[in-house]
Amino acid sequence: MPATFSRPRRLVVLISGRGSNMQTIVNTVREQDLPAEICAVIANKASTLGLDWARAQGIEAKLVAHRDYASRSEFDQALAQVIDTYQPDYVLLAGFMRVLTPEFVERFNGRLLNIHPSLLPAFPGMHTHQQALATGVQWHGCTVHFVTPVLDHGPIVAQGAVQVLAGDTPESLAERVLGMEHLVYARVVRWLAEGRVTLDTMQRVHVHGVGSRSFVMMPDNGQSE
Ligand code: GAR
Repeated sequence: MPATFSRPRRLVVLISGRGSNMQTIVNTVREQDLPAEICAVIANKASTLGLDWARAQGIEAKLVAHRDYASRSEFDQALAQVIDTYQPDYVLLAGFMRVLTPEFVERFNGRLLNIHPSLLPAFPGMHTHQQALATGVQWHGCTVHFVTPVLDHGPIVAQGAVQVLAGDTPESLAERVLGMEHLVYARVVRWLAEGRVTLDTMQRVHVHGVGSRSFVMMPDNGQSE
């Protein structure tokens, strides 16, 4: 059974651009009336579409521009200080394209989650769709995971798979994966809000009351779990 909380889970979402995953998170919390609050959306780049969208929704939208800081460490410290003012239960990376320092990751240990556009541990890093096509895998997808100091690595909360189709381009595959990302992140945010997600001492994820944490999208048959 999920734990009962006296207050909604406090969420801060970090973005770097378009912010479609962030929009999904915001819409999911609202439409499903989840016990969660989006305290702030923070971007590391000015003029991101996502920041404008969040502001238009009445959500606190902040810019902490990495270019304003001399080093990665100084940027991360400034970012952490802004995040801390919201006292979040979870910090959700949603297309946040900065490598974070171990100090930052440690500070938010167990509260920091990321979505990555591949079925980890396959294809960490950039250009995952090109990598998938070059390798010839027949299944590709996305992963929501707790963040560790190792890039695109950490305890997996959920994964979503899509088929690779003959004639796919990086763009067509990215679009299919993005649809799956929205589905998976929405579900994970629900689990977080409901207090279902825990990490054990072996750093394994448990989602209480949930049988399956894998999602599959078939081209003709819609989505299934
Ligand atoms: C998403 O595909 C996300 O998985 C990816 O950036 C895109 C952001 O789209 N993130 C990474 O590659 C992180 N390693 P969005 O801004 O529309 O959510």
